[in-house]
Amino acid sequence: MPAAVHDDGRKVYTQVSSIATIVMLAAGLGTRMNSSLPKVMHTVCGVPLLSHVVAAADGLVADRRVAVLGHGQDLAQSVLPPAWEVATQERQRGTGDALVAAAAYVGDGPVLVLSGDTPLVTTAMLRSFVSAHEQSAVDATVLTMHLERPDGYGRVVRDAAGDVAYIVEQRDATEAERAVCEVNAGMYVLPGRAALDILRGASTDNDQGELYITDVVAGLRRRGARVGAYLLADPAEALGVNSRVDLAEAQHIMRARICRDWMLAGVTIEDPGSTHIDATVRLESDVTILPFTCLRGSTTIGTGSEIGPGATLIDTQVGPGCRVRHSYTEGAVLDASASAGPFTYLRPDAHLGEAAKAGAFVEIKKSSIGPGSKVPHLSYIGDTTIGSATNIGAGNITANYDGRHKHATVIGDNVRTGSDTVFVAPVTIGDGATIGAGSIITKDVPAEALGIARCRQKNIRGYAGRSRGDGDVENDGE
Ligand code: UD1
Ligand code: CA
Repeated sequence: MPAAVHDDGRKVYTQVSSIATIVMLAAGLGTRMNSSLPKVMHTVCGVPLLSHVVAAADGLVADRRVAVLGHGQDLAQSVLPPAWEVATQERQRGTGDALVAAAAYVGDGPVLVLSGDTPLVTTAMLRSFVSAHEQSAVDATVLTMHLERPDGYGRVVRDAAGDVAYIVEQRDATEAERAVCEVNAGMYVLPGRAALDILRGASTDNDQGELYITDVVAGLRRRGARVGAYLLADPAEALGVNSRVDLAEAQHIMRARICRDWMLAGVTIEDPGSTHIDATVRLESDVTILPFTCLRGSTTIGTGSEIGPGATLIDTQVGPGCRVRHSYTEGAVLDASASAGPFTYLRPDAHLGEAAKAGAFVEIKKSSIGPGSKVPHLSYIGDTTIGSATNIGAGNITANYDGRHKHATVIGDNVRTGSDTVFVAPVTIGDGATIGAGSIITKDVPAEALGIARCRQKNIRGYAGRSRGDGDVENDGE
């Protein structure tokens, strides 16, 4: 994916940073998700929430990176890059307690605290945030945003000088505090040691009985420190995911962002609104994506290829100059100029060679279709190797499963198979062979031979008359 574009019109600072430790809070279950999967492992555009945060944070310079994990720790840890250390928060007693859980990694220097549930953060935004903190005279900075509907977020209360006086959670706020539309985005630059000292002495006397990291602000103020705010121009960059409604909103924004980045990188997307591209997908320039197309996982598309309309490609490698229309593919490989669809189902390890074609109502699994070969209509090809320039007739089946084991079919180069052929595997068809239509092929067919295996046709003359009772019937068959 091209580099994220920070387009809120402000200067993007590049030099970073005095940050000693980045701490990402990601131990919570996310009760409001109503899920057995920990919240930060839910995905947006194919990538877990916390991995989006990690990717943005990895663009920053810092001495240490720590993820605070708890719920589903093993799962979350399995997607963390090796540079990230893990602090365990055994019991989830609040965001403040989560920072305390990372105490072993926090020193005197500034700590950048992030949340694992804000997937839309970008490196550019975080750099600007950290640089703004460094260039101000404050001791701590809170990332804030203005929301017309601030529901669910902590409210940021400023003093007369414009510094942040305190943050109050919505559920603990007075009517007047709730009316404040500047909210806490859940990201902070804090003086490490002081923040920990304050949290260790802080009370859990709030509606949730939790230790809140937000209470560090008032604590710093009591010690005479100054706390500033960095107001985010685009609140979408800090959207916090607490429910599946938020998840869908984040997905919507991320999807538009990914499409935009690819369009700027030279990909034509006819209808971004109906196009879904995972963050992990890679496209070359001059790819065209037609409406209602979904590209997922490790899918890559080569230059000049046209995908869609109505195609779903999962973990599929598409070479240059290919066409895939109204099809579903998973774990497939298409070499240059290959085509699939309309209505082709390519399953794992389906391989279309250069300029090969799979057509309507064709299912291919663990099979290689050689260069220039065609499987145009109504066929199932499984555990099969097909050579080059071969044409498979309509409605051919490779019967690869005898009820216990899978067997292979091998079909050579320049083979022609008639319609409605069944290959009962294991079976091998030599180069240049022809198969008669309607054959059930159970034995190998030598090169250049005609293989035919069907009942001869019998015509019974006068049959219609006999059934009317008007005389003898002549049997023309043998
Ligand atoms: C928090 C802020 C709120 C802010 C909002 C922004 C507090 C008290 N409130 O609220 O002011 O507007 O974020 O999105 O901080 N976590 C742990 N351990 C815990 C609890 C939470 O690691 O014991 C992690 C969660 O996994 C999550 C993050 O901290 O990634 C934030 O927790 P969450 O419960 O979502 O806080 P909010 O209620 O959204
Ligand atoms: Ca949250």
